[in-house]
Amino acid sequence: MFVDKNNLEPGMILAADLIVNDGENNDVLLVQGQVLNQFHLKKLSTYNFDGAFVIGEAFNNLRPEPEIDKELESKALSEIKTFYNKLENDNGKVTDKSISIFSDIVDELITEILYKKELTNNVMIFRNHDEYTYQHCLSVANLSISTGISLGMKNEALHDLGMAGFLHDIGKIFIPKEILNKNGKLTESEFGLMKKHPFAAVSMLNGLLSKEILDGVGAHHEKFDGTGYPYGKKGNDISLYGRILAVCDVYHALTSNRSYRKPCFPSEAMEYLMGNAERHFDYNILNIFLKSVVAFPVGTYVKLSNKLNGIVIKNNPENNLRPVIRLLNNDDTAGEEINLFDNRKYMNVTIIA
Ligand SMILES: [Fe+2]
Repeated sequence: MFVDKNNLEPGMILAADLIVNDGENNDVLLVQGQVLNQFHLKKLSTYNFDGAFVIGEAFNNLRPEPEIDKELESKALSEIKTFYNKLENDNGKVTDKSISIFSDIVDELITEILYKKELTNNVMIFRNHDEYTYQHCLSVANLSISTGISLGMKNEALHDLGMAGFLHDIGKIFIPKEILNKNGKLTESEFGLMKKHPFAAVSMLNGLLSKEILDGVGAHHEKFDGTGYPYGKKGNDISLYGRILAVCDVYHALTSNRSYRKPCFPSEAMEYLMGNAERHFDYNILNIFLKSVVAFPVGTYVKLSNKLNGIVIKNNPENNLRPVIRLLNNDDTAGEEINLFDNRKYMNVTIIA
């Protein structure tokens, strides 16, 4: 049903993609299945949408658990934004003051993640690409810390890993935006420039942070089979933090809305990662990582193998591929709720999209 902009509310779920056109290209602003929040509603009004098609009323009020506390998230994003703007103005000079601000945020993040009872993040996809860089830093830090906790790391190591997560891509400030947002394959010389960003980040942070952090930052594009960059290191020659960051970095990039493509669903990104275990990624780290993300976040619109459609309303920590689903009737109203994890009647039903 179509809901006028004045009546759209947080918690409503988009029934169709929202497309914006900049005069030349169509760009997906938000995708079908997105659970709207305040930020999205503001975006809709900025782009002058009259309203949006949303899934029936019966599905409103799904309130996915935020990945991290909203206040901490806004504070972190605003600090990252200020930091990046300053870096660009100061030609990449990182100050002790910025390091100490991030250090405090990382401590808060660790406390927040440790406080959660279970590690299974109901990771919400941040589908707006305008602020991609900032969200990417925060999400990679968050996912890395979660993975580090599952790996049994203690406070100091978690802190270092979180710092590496926040700062891994700062070397990109020297890469022209046209290359970063290029729609299509990079030319050899463009890729050559791109390959320099881990080095650049290490030299920007040199002397300010520990060797372990620098090694992690410098290795976040290395691949387990030696086909990555900048050094083409293999296996355990790639630092532990580097191997963790590599998984979190690719996962977040794939599930984000970019100017050149729509995001993958978490389930698709997980398949991609699994398909590259031992080739691009450390199998053990990947396995641990995959336990801390859910394939179908609350609010995901799913098609089932029995030809029914529904919305994910809850995840099962025991098995993140088998959530609880509220079926969607033909008249757009809410139908039966089925738990794919323990409802024997639906054991043979699979999520197909
Ligand atoms: Fe990178």
